[in-house]
Amino acid sequence: MPITVVVGAQWGDEGKAKVIDLLAKEHPVVARYQGGHNAGHTVVVGDEKYALQLTPSGVFYDTVTPVIANGVVVDLPTLFNEIDTLTARGINCDKLQVSTRAHLIFPWHQSHDALAEEGRGDNKIGTTLKGIGPAYADKARRVGILAGAVADIDSFSAAVRERCEAENILITQAGGEAVNVDETVATFTELGLRLQSYLCDTVNFLHDELAAGSPILLEGAQATFLDLDHGTYPYVTSSNPTAGGACAGTGIGPRNIDRVVGISKSYTTRVGAGPFPSELTDELGDRLIDIGREFGTVTGRRRRAGWLDCVMLRHAVRLNSLTELAVTKLDVLDTFETIRVCVGYRIDGNDVENYPDLPEVLERAEPVYVDLDGWQSDSTTARMPADLPPQAQAFIRLIEEQVGVPVRIIGVGAERDDYVLWGSSS
Ligand code: GDP
Ligand code: IMO
Ligand code: MG
Repeated sequence: MPITVVVGAQWGDEGKAKVIDLLAKEHPVVARYQGGHNAGHTVVVGDEKYALQLTPSGVFYDTVTPVIANGVVVDLPTLFNEIDTLTARGINCDKLQVSTRAHLIFPWHQSHDALAEEGRGDNKIGTTLKGIGPAYADKARRVGILAGAVADIDSFSAAVRERCEAENILITQAGGEAVNVDETVATFTELGLRLQSYLCDTVNFLHDELAAGSPILLEGAQATFLDLDHGTYPYVTSSNPTAGGACAGTGIGPRNIDRVVGISKSYTTRVGAGPFPSELTDELGDRLIDIGREFGTVTGRRRRAGWLDCVMLRHAVRLNSLTELAVTKLDVLDTFETIRVCVGYRIDGNDVENYPDLPEVLERAEPVYVDLDGWQSDSTTARMPADLPPQAQAFIRLIEEQVGVPVRIIGVGAERDDYVLWGSSS
């Protein structure tokens, strides 16, 4: 199994990092393929909790080379702050490789992000305000600055100055405050010099590793339904978190990928605006948020929560060629008397099996539920399938039946070892 992709199957924060931390034991290379510091990937090791925004989640193993591949947009202040914090906590980041072809984020991207959100009035997307959309927009309109540009630091500094001055005209015209040009050039020149030792032609590096027989893990950020093409547009991010994005974002062709793990919570959450058919806006939703500690890792925002939606997950299988699911946070459902699973939608009085193509149609979708008895007991100590309460086993089997791919990993707690491998013995 040389290449495995891990992709969020819902709207993000499914627990991807914990699963990557688990799979990284068998993968000497772990590469992030898209997104930027809008991601918040949590790994809990013993009493230590790490929230990563840019560094791949395999960084905790000294056997792993972490790679930030070409599809990622890199905010240098965040990257070096993260490296320094990890280093101070005893995690060695020296092996980190940053693609020469990754695009950099600058303060003017964050200004544009904020101005665009303000301009949307009541129709805000609820972005993380990290400048992700504007940075990808600059990439698409071919005015972005590549990480590799720092190799010639003088021309890099000149390019930063030129872009900053040009963007300031647009920012001030839109009513925003101009970015301080001299400060930005000075800061990024210093960070650019520091970046030089991490630069790598990651496309050739990954292919050389592949040729040498190293299993590679491709770490998705965000999620399927935040995908620019396939998510609930415009309430999406500005990259392709779906498995196809792993190819473009690393330079690895699709025939090299043979395992695609979709990560889903045992329920659904979303942070930011946009349609959410199985959302619970009542006391049950509050319970999911409280027990699941559903507050954003990056922005601290309260997430929205609802029941598991198998219509979404079936579509995630199609979009990503999922070979399996990892179902996380099963323990969060431990106290619920009844557990509902959305297995279909009713739209305008008709039963619908396929995920609707347009968000305005999805807004009208009423979930069709199957109700299961809750197990009302502690699942957190389960380590083998047979340790799980029978009702929890029935819940997992219903997911497999509804979604059409096997569940392989079940999360029963935030800590590294809190999981059950669900498989043929179940
Ligand atoms: P990611 O963005 O997909 O990597 O997920 P986040 O780290 O943003 O959010 C997932 C949260 O759930 C983190 O706080 C994790 O520590 C936590 N978590 C992951 N798996 C489990 C699990 O199986 N049970 C519980 N209770 N928490 C989990
Ligand atoms: P991880 O990798 C959850 C959401 C934002 C917003 C939309 C667009 O931790 O799962 P952006 O700043 O990307 O332009 O915001 O996408 N969003 C996430 N939601 N988890 C994430 O990452 C997210 N990254 C972006 O809340 O709705
Ligand atoms: Mg997250």
